[in-house]
Amino acid sequence: MGDALPATASERGLGRLFLRKFLRDPKDVASVWPSSRWLARAMLRDVVLPTGGGVVELGPGTGAFTAPILELLASAGGGGYLGIERDAEFCDLLRRRFPRVEFAWADAATLATQLAARPGLQPFAVVSGLPLVAMPKPMVAELVRTAHAAVPVGGWFCTFSYQHSLVNPAQWWLRRLLRTTFGRLEVRPVLRNVPPALVFAARKIAV
Ligand SMILES: C[S@@+](CC[C@H](N)C(=O)[O-])C[C@H]1O[C@@H](n2cnc3c(N)ncnc32)[C@H](O)[C@@H]1O
Repeated sequence: MGDALPATASERGLGRLFLRKFLRDPKDVASVWPSSRWLARAMLRDVVLPTGGGVVELGPGTGAFTAPILELLASAGGGGYLGIERDAEFCDLLRRRFPRVEFAWADAATLATQLAARPGLQPFAVVSGLPLVAMPKPMVAELVRTAHAAVPVGGWFCTFSYQHSLVNPAQWWLRRLLRTTFGRLEVRPVLRNVPPALVFAARKIAV
């Protein structure tokens, strides 16, 4: 997943690392290239953070969403950030790229424990780059429940899948899960990504 033409040498470097990881572990990494800036923009499009509202990012990879998330946080008065990444090499890279924020080298399934250990972090949005469509359903259901409980009314759970996965029943199951858990779900197609993607932006409309 990514820009058709990466703009800079550093983006190309991140892309090569991503591709190498994908070839080694296609199930976890789930895509051949980092997400594009257009996908990142569509993920965060309607997220307006209240003062002090934080963001938790699941599966940040090489940081395609992290940079725009940190810009959003800075413009909104500096709520907290936590990234949870299971791959050690990605986690090291993220810590070097974004030294002012925290990355837990951990499985996203530990989300509840990670949040309990950081009571000062008040997430308003959970932004997921995880390959949810390919993950075990009980784990996904638990993650979505935990994210819903963690954000206030008006808060977000934003994730994406690929347009070629429209034929996968698990993608439709995920949409139903997000809509029924959060109350509202918007689906946004993003063609400028390799491969073309679909953003699922779920908003909590009641406790
Ligand atoms: C599809 S890539 C997305 C990376 C990045 N967010 C992007 O959009 O370019 C999936 C990422 O999730 C991470 N990941 C997969 N399963 C995970 C899990 N159970 N817990 C934490 N991270 C996980 C992978 O290591 C990888 O960095």
